[in-house]
Amino acid sequence: MKRNFIACFLLLTSLAAGAKQQGETSMTLPDGNGSSREPVELNRNKRQPLPYKDATLPVETRVEDLLSRMTLYEKIAQLNQYTLGNNDNVNNIDEVVDKIPSETGSLIYFGDNASLRNAMQKKAVEETRLGIPILFGFDVIHGFRTVYPIPLAIGASWNPGLAGEACRVAAMEAWHAGIDWTFSPMVDIARDARWGRIAEGYGEDPYLTSVFGAASVKAYQGDDLSEPGNIAACLKHYVGYGASEAGRDYVPTEISRQTLWDTYLPPFEAGIKAGAATVMSSFNNISGIPGSANHYTMTEVLKEKWNHDGFVVADWNAVVQLISQGMAKDGKEAAMYAINAGLDMDMVDNLYMQHLEALLNEGKVSMERVDDAVRRILKLKFELGLFENPYTEEKPESEWVLLPESLETARNLAEESMVLLKNDGDVLPLEKDCKVALIGPMARNQKDLLGSWFGRGRAEDVTSIYDGLNEVMETSVAYAPGCDFDGSDTSGFAEAVRVASESDVVVLCLGEKRNWSGENASRSTIALPGIQEDLLMTLKETGKPIVVVLSNGRSLDLTRISPAADAVLETWQPGVMGGPAVASVLTGGTNPSGRLTVTFPYTTGQIPVYYNHRESGRRGSQGLYQDIPSTPMYEFGYGLSYTDYEYGQVTVSADSFTVNDRITASVTVRNAGDMDGKETVQWYICDPYSSLTRPVKELKHFEKRLLKAGEEYTFTFEIDPMRDLSFVNGEGERFIEPGDFYIMVKDQKVRITLTE
Ligand code: NOJ
Repeated sequence: MKRNFIACFLLLTSLAAGAKQQGETSMTLPDGNGSSREPVELNRNKRQPLPYKDATLPVETRVEDLLSRMTLYEKIAQLNQYTLGNNDNVNNIDEVVDKIPSETGSLIYFGDNASLRNAMQKKAVEETRLGIPILFGFDVIHGFRTVYPIPLAIGASWNPGLAGEACRVAAMEAWHAGIDWTFSPMVDIARDARWGRIAEGYGEDPYLTSVFGAASVKAYQGDDLSEPGNIAACLKHYVGYGASEAGRDYVPTEISRQTLWDTYLPPFEAGIKAGAATVMSSFNNISGIPGSANHYTMTEVLKEKWNHDGFVVADWNAVVQLISQGMAKDGKEAAMYAINAGLDMDMVDNLYMQHLEALLNEGKVSMERVDDAVRRILKLKFELGLFENPYTEEKPESEWVLLPESLETARNLAEESMVLLKNDGDVLPLEKDCKVALIGPMARNQKDLLGSWFGRGRAEDVTSIYDGLNEVMETSVAYAPGCDFDGSDTSGFAEAVRVASESDVVVLCLGEKRNWSGENASRSTIALPGIQEDLLMTLKETGKPIVVVLSNGRSLDLTRISPAADAVLETWQPGVMGGPAVASVLTGGTNPSGRLTVTFPYTTGQIPVYYNHRESGRRGSQGLYQDIPSTPMYEFGYGLSYTDYEYGQVTVSADSFTVNDRITASVTVRNAGDMDGKETVQWYICDPYSSLTRPVKELKHFEKRLLKAGEEYTFTFEIDPMRDLSFVNGEGERFIEPGDFYIMVKDQKVRITLTE
């Protein structure tokens, strides 16, 4: 049963009563299990700082010095994480400790400001023997208080620079609230929108996810983690969590080594290269070995092949879940499997604390492994400057939350992430003096525009679509809710029809509640509930043009909605500036520039459907559905705008080259319309014949750029054969084979040849 609690940070008082300050000689500490630990020498000379407290020394030296002074209990305590504050996350269940030792490595911090953190930190820094500061982490997924669009929307912006700006805002706010570490970015590839956590990643493509993941890591962490406003990042969920069967959460995944390397590992590798300080192990069982007990992924790949020198934290209770997953017979065995596989920090289930000492004594876990895990955690604490600056200055909230420039970033990102799916008869953009009937359950809603994982965001911070639209329209907007998000109550339909009949155009705001996606929020169909579709069908009978505005945390089955609407705008869950952003796009203040990063299937039954699949043995007219087209409704990369972009001929600097050459592909794009707009050129590669078959096409590069009306620009893609034309096998070894390849841009396909 879930127990919410304000953590009682009762430091072992016997410990506090003993020696705490540097300068004292030695002491024996009781540990949580009642056994004693060896005495440890501390520095007698008060004027000479202990090496680990000397900020002029290299981090490695400080880590080694501190490690050499630690008792076993102090080391084990570093490997545990608990919570502090009111844990209001419904999926964070089964907390198992109510007394948190002040020597603990980390806490998940549920605070709006730094005061509680500072009080706890004081216990750790001033009342423990070695004064090791605690690392405070939190799920800052798409903003802390200034909530910006969900990651799935961020991907659809195709603007990693802007995504980085938003992460800077999140980091700044979180840092002021006392958070050192965010459990973000999530770089899980998801191809099944029934899985609610598709909302938390950047979509179905490994390359695009890699780019956004790396941009987020760099933005959160900055160049120097100890600088104000920088926080450590955490790549999650390592790995393959998105391969969830039938979209159910937490279930086992079947992933071949080939698919692991082709699809699920690349974004993690990119994030590690970008400098991610930490990684979170996943809940899913990966073809027999759970992610949180997987030596291959955590040690052989992450730490040995990629040389990651940060640490791996478990997902919530992921160690104890090794029992439910059928691997460990009890908590002790679970702890053994996890730490031996390379999992450094145990999130909340307290098993490392309970069992590591015994496991060491029995020789089932080595001291070397424990020391390695402790080193990795201490290293981050030193890099964050926590020993020098353990406390967060408590500034008035007005100085750091919802600042005008933060809201501006949130708004820009919301605008750039919206995808215009349909616009028959150029019904959009709306004239500002037209009479709008704003209808639907999302029209005046605030809280659901936040999406899942909204940090410390508040519904009252959100500007609704109704308020956003009223702000820009010259005539006042008429409103009727029509119906709720689900259920069968059609009593509001008549009023909606009346309002629609008196208008020039209907803007119908449909979608999902925020808790319909995210963790543990799967849906068996990704169509909207029938009542919302029925409202559209009823309004259609008025003969008025209908613009459907969608807000949701996944791709949708629009089989009924899309044909019935004149225009469809996908706005995702756009965050606090959702209303103004929607209004701007609807009225042409912003030319829509978002493009899908998840395929919208024709119906739910097509799932999984994604663009970068391999070719079938019988192409074309075979292997088709009896009842629906075999092509999706809207493909990856799709999205309309209010202007026309004319693409010239794609050219290449050489059509034949060797592996050591670089060739440049170019295409000139002209904004042939009369509205400025941002166009993203998407560069794909196709390797038609290979000893290890490749997907029909793979995104390798993209660039988004503002093109003023009438302006043209030549976009380029410099091809590095080893990077862009090679492939990996199931062991992660990279190969390149001579032969023909195709560069694909829009509907063009240009052949290039790699020679021996
Ligand atoms: C479980 C989620 O899977 C993970 O993404 C999150 O970071 C942790 N809970 C902590 O809240």
